Amino acid sequence: MKILVLNGSPHVNGNTAAMVNAFKEGAESKGHTVDVIQVGTKQIRGCLACEYCHTKGNGKCIQKDDMTQVYEGIDSADMIVFASPVYYWGVSGQMQSVISRFYAYPIPKVKKYALLISSMSPRVYDGIISQYKSIVGYFSAKDMGIITAHDPDNKSAAKLAEVKKLGESL
Ligand SMILES: Cc1cc2nc3c(=O)[nH]c(=O)nc-3n(C[C@H](O)[C@H](O)[C@H](O)COP(=O)(O)O)c2cc1C
Repeated sequence: MKILVLNGSPHVNGNTAAMVNAFKEGAESKGHTVDVIQVGTKQIRGCLACEYCHTKGNGKCIQKDDMTQVYEGIDSADMIVFASPVYYWGVSGQMQSVISRFYAYPIPKVKKYALLISSMSPRVYDGIISQYKSIVGYFSAKDMGIITAHDPDNKSAAKLAEVKKLGESL
C-alpha cells in the first residue's frame, strides 16, 4: 500500500514527527511505502471559497502553492494519515488549511485513514477526533486507527511502540 502521511507540525524533530517516524518504521517493515509531507513547514493557504475547483477547474484548485505537492500525493495514495499537534483543541492551522483544500475533490478515492495527535495535556482530543471521524464518514472511508500522545508520554518508548504497531498492523 502507498501511504501518505501529512504532518501538520512546524517542528521537524517534534513530538508529532516522533509518532510519524514510528508509524513509518512499522508500516515499511510490512512492505508498505510511506511518504511524509511536513505540511506544517509548507506554504499552504486556506481555501478561497472561489468555487473554481467545482466549476472551470474541474477538481483542480486555482491556488498554486505547496498544496500542489499534497494533491499529487493524495492522487497516488491508498491511505492517508493525518498527524498534527493540538493547537487550542484543534489541529494546527497549517493542517486545517490542508483539510479545507480537500474541498477541491468531489470525494477523494483514498479509502483508508488514520490519525496521530500530540498534545501537552490529556483530554483535549474530542474536537479533533470528531472532525476526523466526520471526514472519514463523509468520504465513505475506513478509520484504521487513532493514537493520541500527551506529556509525559510524548516520545516515550511505550507510546512510540504503540504507534509502530499501528503501522505494522496495516
Ligand atoms: C499554538 C499552540 C497551541 C497549543 N494548544 C494546545 C492545547 O490546546 N492543548 C494542549 O494540550 N497542548 C497545546 N499545545 C501544545 C502542543 O500540542 C504540544 O506541545 C505538541 O506536543 C507539539 O507537537 P510538535 O512537537 O510536533 O510540534 C499548543 C502548542 C502551540 C504552539
